[in-house]
Amino acid sequence: MPETLWRASLVLALYRNRHVAHARYMQLATTCSDGRPANRTVVFRGFLGESDSIIVVTNLHSAKVAELQSIPWAGVCWYFPMSREQFRITARASIVDGNTAEAALTRCEIWRGLVESTRRSFTWPEPGSPRDSAQPFMESETDPENPPANFGLVVLHPVEVDHLELDGNPQNRWAYRLDEAGRWQGREVHP
Ligand SMILES: Cc1cc2nc3c(=O)[nH]c(=O)nc-3n(C[C@H](O)[C@H](O)[C@H](O)COP(=O)(O)O)c2cc1C
Repeated sequence: MPETLWRASLVLALYRNRHVAHARYMQLATTCSDGRPANRTVVFRGFLGESDSIIVVTNLHSAKVAELQSIPWAGVCWYFPMSREQFRITARASIVDGNTAEAALTRCEIWRGLVESTRRSFTWPEPGSPRDSAQPFMESETDPENPPANFGLVVLHPVEVDHLELDGNPQNRWAYRLDEAGRWQGREVHP
């Protein structure tokens, strides 16, 4: 089985669902410091270069960043409605901020590629801070060439992938795992 067959399947799923904007939304689960789960929707922003690593943008002051800095494991659950398939990904996560050498250029490229309305969300007050409805909502223009300090990436480095295809006969499922030597092992399993 080729090393990253799951990545080819995921790229194919993205292509088959390319007309559905929400097919690029995935659920990203983390663990809180007290052991409780946390989960939220995020946007898939692509792979890091030619690697298997998945990029998500984030406000560095958001809870998910603190959670991943404390416990760097994430679970992704991603359903593709047109092709009726699910990918569940277990990944080690790293956080890219303005001081990180890894993916520094990617951070700037992704920032530049965001629409202005998304970039502006990084000028909003602190995420999760109390909102006073009497105060006008403050946001400001951004500089596409210079990401602000609170703009970061979550880079997900998968170690396990579970791919379920509902449209099989009856269904198809594959389990992939990165072995100790860094090679992907995959096998077909019962759904
Ligand atoms: C459709 C959709 C897409 C979203 N995309 C992102 C995203 O790419 N990055 C992000 O940090 N939050 C995104 N959010 C907001 C998160 O779901 C979440 O509310 C926010 O990140 C705060 O989560 P946290 O406090 O657990 O960090 C999105 C929400 C929705 C509904």
